[in-house]
Amino acid sequence: MTDSVRIVEVSPRDGLQNEKTQVPTATKIELIDRLARTGLRTIEATSFVSPKWVPQLADAADVFTGIERRPGIAYPVLVPNLTGYERAVAVGVEEIAVFTAASEAFNRTNINAGIDESLQRFAPVLERARADGVRVRGYVSTVLGCPYQGDVPLTDVVRVARALHDMGCYEISLGDTIGVGTPARAATMLRAVSAELPIRALALHFHDTYGQALANILACLELGARVVDAAVAGTGGCPYARGASGNVASEDVVYMLHGMGLDTGIDLPALADTGRWLAAALGRETGSRVGRAIETTTD
Ligand code: HMG
Ligand code: MG
Repeated sequence: MTDSVRIVEVSPRDGLQNEKTQVPTATKIELIDRLARTGLRTIEATSFVSPKWVPQLADAADVFTGIERRPGIAYPVLVPNLTGYERAVAVGVEEIAVFTAASEAFNRTNINAGIDESLQRFAPVLERARADGVRVRGYVSTVLGCPYQGDVPLTDVVRVARALHDMGCYEISLGDTIGVGTPARAATMLRAVSAELPIRALALHFHDTYGQALANILACLELGARVVDAAVAGTGGCPYARGASGNVASEDVVYMLHGMGLDTGIDLPALADTGRWLAAALGRETGSRVGRAIETTTD
């Protein structure tokens, strides 16, 4: 494998949304600006969701206006509805992500709407985005299992991914929200979705609850996937997905990709340094094995 992989860094959003103690706005801004100096091309900055639902990201507008927006870097934000869209574009957002799930039960808990209702809610958002020239990414959660429903039929994953793509999402991120997948199941899921949608329009968003995320990513890379969501220091989790632990650590993904001869454009030591800085800011050890290894071998 000699081509390249794009990492979508989600630590400022997914990484922080479930933190119990309020992270200062200045720390969030510094995190994004540090990440922007590591070679990353996509950094998911924050969420314009209801502050009652996710109080940690209530400062979304201040974060977005506080960062230094570098040319060549996309700074998408999560948007659940038209209210969120308007708040986002008011501060100059140029790319958004809408999010739904392949599980009815998870969606009800996370966004207070069923699958079809959520898609209907996105329709005017996508329409406005098209008119405004705003790019839209789409998330499908619970693609390998749901904390409430258990098994999620592949036909539901494919249906929702396809619906988001048909509505105009340029990329569909497939989320193992609670990190229960294993490589063969991840590959089967990706095969099913890529039978209907171009593989280049699909991203992997794997949480690492059972320590399977890297193995799952590898299985999907072998099928041609080339976009991977990850969070430095292995931060992350969804407040409405019981049992969801951190995202796969970006440092660990980049180390594996570089070892396979896949280019990411990312400076790994700088990324690992940012991960350790974030862990220290959150008052804990980094959740990245590579972050820890680089520290002990360079100190
Ligand atoms: P609702 O309560 O049904 O909405 O929430 P509503 O329309 O009835 O509004 C209730 C109140 O919220 C109103 O205010 C609205 O104005 C306000 P009030 O009249 O009571 O004062 N409101 C808003 N305020 C600011 N920004 C907004 C907004 N929308 C409504 N955008 C809603 C429905 C979708 C808004 C809510 O459920 C919500 O915000 N959910 C977000 C949950 C969330 O962010 N979860 C984590 C992200 S998803 C995830 O982590 C998974 C992912 O990583 C992939 C994976 O791992 O699988 C992406
Ligand atoms: Mg997630």
